[in-house]
Amino acid sequence: MERRRLGRTELMTSVLGYGCGAVGGLMVRGTAAEQERAIARAIELGINYFDTAPLYGDGESERNLGRALAALRHPDVVIGTKSRLPADTAPGRIGELLTASLDDSLRRLGRDHVDLFQLHNSIAAAGTGSTLAADVVLDEVRHAFERLRQQGKARFIGITAVGETAALHRVVDARAFDTAQVVYNVLNPTAGGPPLDSMPGQDYDRLLDRTRQADMGVIGIRALAGGALSGSEARHPVGLPTVEPIGSGPSYAADAARARRLEALVKEGHAAGLIEAALRFVISHAAISTMLVGTSTIEELEIAARAVAAGRLPPAALAQARALAAG
Ligand SMILES: NC(=O)c1ccc[n+]([C@@H]2O[C@H](COP(=O)([O-])OP(=O)(O)OC[C@H]3O[C@@H](n4cnc5c(N)ncnc54)[C@H](OP(=O)(O)O)[C@@H]3O)[C@@H](O)[C@H]2O)c1
Repeated sequence: MERRRLGRTELMTSVLGYGCGAVGGLMVRGTAAEQERAIARAIELGINYFDTAPLYGDGESERNLGRALAALRHPDVVIGTKSRLPADTAPGRIGELLTASLDDSLRRLGRDHVDLFQLHNSIAAAGTGSTLAADVVLDEVRHAFERLRQQGKARFIGITAVGETAALHRVVDARAFDTAQVVYNVLNPTAGGPPLDSMPGQDYDRLLDRTRQADMGVIGIRALAGGALSGSEARHPVGLPTVEPIGSGPSYAADAARARRLEALVKEGHAAGLIEAALRFVISHAAISTMLVGTSTIEELEIAARAVAAGRLPPAALAQARALAAG
């Protein structure tokens, strides 16, 4: 499988990364045997980036990933986890809470360090609830992350680029973090190009130009808009029963309806199916280092691996995909 440089970390990560989140819930709600088979198969397919977080199943995802990797005798892979500070955390407690969160993650994963430690909170100009102010991220959070890096508990540090666009630009431009998890998909390609007419989602205003200037590694999230890019509203019983869109549209149903317009690409022979078209659209952007996909079954993992093996979409198909998604 193709590997791409994860920005200034100089790590080489597989273009398809393994999402251990709760949306495609295999690593949270699957059986232990199936989880172990899935991680072994992912590694066999060439996947070397595994993304988890304490929030995924309240620690279950980290525990299960740790167990599956131990069963494989700790293969040489890149592990990223995160921490979401509780709503309205008092500024003076940020360092202590992030340290405790990473220590708990390491215990669940059965490791003494992770490759990547990322902030899971959304970011805005002003903090409210669990959204953090950009000033706080660039000051207390950054310093706490740097201390954890110096202690050897995390090799690299990153953010989740979810929140207000201007605040995300500010944090990226500050070059304080090594990586960013960026929403980029055919229903919302604004992080990587101009906004589309009549597009309902958030305008990320070419965030990927800025991550490139800052030499940050980019971890693509929401490649399938949480599953809506399958074109169907049906959810697998292992996956999350209801999924809220991030940046793409007003509802999962609206995203799925818009996804069905992309059937034209399949009919014209550009891709074998909607999932393949959507995943190849994401990896066609050079700034995407690794693209996470959430899966409920090993079959979905196989389909994602076949999609990335088919490579980037040709320019004409990319233009058509954008036009179809814009409507
Ligand atoms: N930092 C953050 O805040 C953040 C946010 C979101 C995601 N992430 C990361 O990104 C990963 C991916 O999650 P995501 O939310 O972005 O979701 P996603 O990958 O856009 O969509 C996952 C969903 O796609 C569906 N799917 C996958 N393959 C399919 C196939 N072959 N046919 C039909 N449906 C298919 C599954 O639906 P069914 O379950 O119904 O089969 C699955 O639940 C997470 O695990 C997490 O690691 C991080």
